[in-house]
Amino acid sequence: MDLINSIFSKTIIGLDIGVSGIKAVELSFGKKTSLAAYNRISLPWDAITPDGVIKNELAITNALKKLFAAKNFSTRQVSVGIFGNSILSKPIHLPQMAEKDIEDQIYWEAEQYIPFNIEECEIDFAVVGNTLQKVEAGTQSMIEVLLVAAKKEYVQSFTNLIESSGLKVVVLDYQAFALGNAFEFNYRAELSQSALGDTHVLIDLGAGYTKLSFLEKENTVFTTKVSASGSGCTQLISERLGESFEQAERVKLKESGSPLVSPIIQDYNAHWVSEIQKSIDVFFGGSAERHLQKIYYTGGASQTPGLIESLSNIYPEQVENLDPVKNLFFPRNGVNRRLIDDLSLLGTAAVGLALRKTGDSK
Ligand SMILES: Nc1ncnc2c1ncn2[C@@H]1O[C@H](COP(=O)(O)OP(=O)(O)OP(=O)(O)O)[C@@H](O)[C@H]1O
Ligand SMILES: [Mg+2]
Repeated sequence: MDLINSIFSKTIIGLDIGVSGIKAVELSFGKKTSLAAYNRISLPWDAITPDGVIKNELAITNALKKLFAAKNFSTRQVSVGIFGNSILSKPIHLPQMAEKDIEDQIYWEAEQYIPFNIEECEIDFAVVGNTLQKVEAGTQSMIEVLLVAAKKEYVQSFTNLIESSGLKVVVLDYQAFALGNAFEFNYRAELSQSALGDTHVLIDLGAGYTKLSFLEKENTVFTTKVSASGSGCTQLISERLGESFEQAERVKLKESGSPLVSPIIQDYNAHWVSEIQKSIDVFFGGSAERHLQKIYYTGGASQTPGLIESLSNIYPEQVENLDPVKNLFFPRNGVNRRLIDDLSLLGTAAVGLALRKTGDSK
């Protein structure tokens, strides 16, 4: 970036609208990248479904207004993560071609792989690398690309909703790419040491779904999700104890050690971990040249008692906490420890989104 650009480059707020709440992060980019502001607000459980369907627009706009009224964010320009049923990603292989030609070609290729009407989609992609594919006469070198398609209608209504709260959407990112971004920023040293085929798995244990991203070097090569989640665990407690969802959530957070609640959580953990393991097995089963390097977990539901221990039993010495603020600089008396811990647990996607700059594609 040249000097003029860097002086005038504006920060944007990373805005992660999740099932349980909204997180907003502002970074400032100087010699060091530092935290300028962070805030978070809860959403009612039915405001947005795990599949990204917005059920309660008013709850979201009110929450956004509150979130921005309470903190000194320097701008209303936001970079937002999208997720859910209206967006999907697929790894595809293309014959060797110049990167500039991929953009034209991908649109035609997308049609075969995407179950949506392509004319009604925004298409994006990330080049992952080169791979060898078997053909009749031996092998052929192909370009591996992760294709992302999002329904325009959804993107538009999501953008409208956010902008009706007084914000300006300048970047829209696939939530999984935001996680990868945050990882790349904080784990450069680990990534620089990794060899081709070494794969890091990022697991975002959220309220709605458990999202898995598979990274080779800094590239997200595959994304998937499992339906077990923080809300799934709460739901099981609610069913077994005959309590409302809200009450079961309170019990999960405050009485997880009680003899009534603990066995329910352990039952759910067994199911949760087995779903995660199945997804990991499917990926490595179909990608023999890649192998598991390490698993990094993030998200509020990673606090579920016993969950990470169960995962670590399956993958000994390979499971680590993803710290999205590891390489962030904190102004001395600006931010308190509790806030940093909160951001570290819940803010990975928002940090990844805040790392995007204005001028990045929407
Ligand atoms: N101490 C805890 N014990 C168990 N679960 C917890 C704890 N703290 C938070 N959670 C769970 O974490 C989830 C919220 O985490 P997070 O904010 O990462 O999710 P989200 O981003 O809103 O969801 P999603 O990413 O699926 O949209 C909730 O399901 C909540 O119950
Ligand atoms: Mg989340």
